[in-house]
Amino acid sequence: MKIIKTKNYQDMSRKAANIIAAQVIQKEDSVLGLATGSTMLELYDDLVSRYRAGDLDFSKIRSVNLDEYLGLHPSNPQSYRYYMDQNLFNNINIPVENTYLPKGMVDDADMECAAFDALIESLGGIDLQLLGLGLDGHIGFNEPGDAFIKESHCVLLNPSTIKANSRFFEHEDDVPRHALTMGMGAIMKAKAVLLCVNGKAKAPILKQVLYGPITPRV
Ligand code: GLP
Repeated sequence: MKIIKTKNYQDMSRKAANIIAAQVIQKEDSVLGLATGSTMLELYDDLVSRYRAGDLDFSKIRSVNLDEYLGLHPSNPQSYRYYMDQNLFNNINIPVENTYLPKGMVDDADMECAAFDALIESLGGIDLQLLGLGLDGHIGFNEPGDAFIKESHCVLLNPSTIKANSRFFEHEDDVPRHALTMGMGAIMKAKAVLLCVNGKAKAPILKQVLYGPITPRV
């Protein structure tokens, strides 16, 4: 593990973009594991600028996202599909059919999760997985629990996650209670993982992540 301490949010975003850009340049058909959240906004902006400058080509890249809220349609501005389209996919030359997220509008969440794992396998696994960190120590939506869950699964969100993410919704009641998330198996099988964390509020949980015991609680 390599820890890169940066001056500020801008510096973190640029350095993370350097790592993703290097991956895209070195392997033009990479499978990128992508993440949402406010942490990634400037990083995605930076990748768009590099694409517009002619430095990056995403035409052969495939992407799989970590998670999606259950019950949100892709046209809902709070859905992660909408976030990814707006902040990245619509602004680069990745073919939309090569971008995958768990589908939030499904009747059978378990079947969708199994299909999502099969899809990741069929792509040959993830080359570089980007991760943010939840205030409660989650990655994707793998909430603190008693065991690591290997497979993609449907999760009941923690009250603290619902509260933290309510800042993007009009009312806290509008935040979906369930989400579909990639499990720890596909994340840990990724050839490389890039975890981006910023802001004072995350200092205590980051300390636990880096220096605390390895546990499904963090
Ligand atoms: C959400 C997402 C995570 C993300 C986390 C942090 O809960 N499911 O994948 O890492 O929030 O978000 P932010 O970057 O806004 O702090």
